[in-house]
Amino acid sequence: MTAFAELHMHIEGALGPDLIFGLAERNRMHLPYDSLADLESRYEFTDLQSFLDLYYANLAVLRTADDFADLTRDYLRRAAAAGVRHAEIFFDPQAHTARGVPLQVVLDGILDVLAVSEHEFGMSTGLIASFLRDQPVHDAEAVLDELLRLRAPIIGVGLDSAEVGNPPTLFEDVFARARAEGLHAVAHAGEEGPPEYIRQALDVLGVERIDHGVRCLEDPELVRRLVDEEIPLTVCPLSNVRLRVVDSLGQHPLRTMLDAGLKVTVNSDDPAYFGGDVGVNFARLREELALTDGEVETLARNSIEASFASPARKEQLLAM
Ligand code: HPA
Ligand code: ZN
Repeated sequence: MTAFAELHMHIEGALGPDLIFGLAERNRMHLPYDSLADLESRYEFTDLQSFLDLYYANLAVLRTADDFADLTRDYLRRAAAAGVRHAEIFFDPQAHTARGVPLQVVLDGILDVLAVSEHEFGMSTGLIASFLRDQPVHDAEAVLDELLRLRAPIIGVGLDSAEVGNPPTLFEDVFARARAEGLHAVAHAGEEGPPEYIRQALDVLGVERIDHGVRCLEDPELVRRLVDEEIPLTVCPLSNVRLRVVDSLGQHPLRTMLDAGLKVTVNSDDPAYFGGDVGVNFARLREELALTDGEVETLARNSIEASFASPARKEQLLAM
């Protein structure tokens, strides 16, 4: 099989129960869970917000650069084993600065490990800072200021957290500024939110990829546009099932999207929360949707073409 890239994963979403307990012990913190089993029993979600509540609560254990480094290494090790050869990784600066963890500490921990990822794991990587759309726009502006001041070596900006009621239009200025600084732009849109948010992300934020985007199927004209303009959609099948965006994996519209000519990729989103890494997503899709070798091949090629890797690296990945 061709190598593939993972373009939609939140590093904070790689924080699993074992690491949560390990870091709590190292940082001498009390967890609001009786046991590992108690924590594990809480991974039953009804929608995006019910997941975000647990995801943000668990971040309390991430305090030092070493904590972020351990988290990043854990993700890279698993992703490499699953066959990922290039990863573009989201992180949520505001979820840490709001808890009193300096942005520089977060960056140091993640970037120290990303710096050796090609050598240690055979994976090229890029880091994308995501703004929390359910927090004031002013906070996103402050994060961008700080990232620029620190000359953080990020490749782009994204937009995540609770979607409905927090439309892309709110973030027009901060995205314009990020793009003027030469950063790539992506945004979550059309996960729980309407197709209109996908249009706004393209027209108002100027994004190059849409994260999720599955609800585009409700709007045939939008689908035509996404096909014509070859806008990549970073779809996360197991996430969609666990957050009840779709009823079951067997009913996931991934094949409909492929057949429509959409440039779809498969990603894990938050691998520690949704039942597995990108390899598990592919394996389950083969079982439940009878995804063929040819379709997997197309998805792998799409992921490399849709990445922000250099032309030379893309060529290398496509030849693997
Ligand atoms: N959607 C929106 N925000 C997120 C997600 C997601 O799946 N994961 C982490 N932040
Ligand atoms: Zn996501």
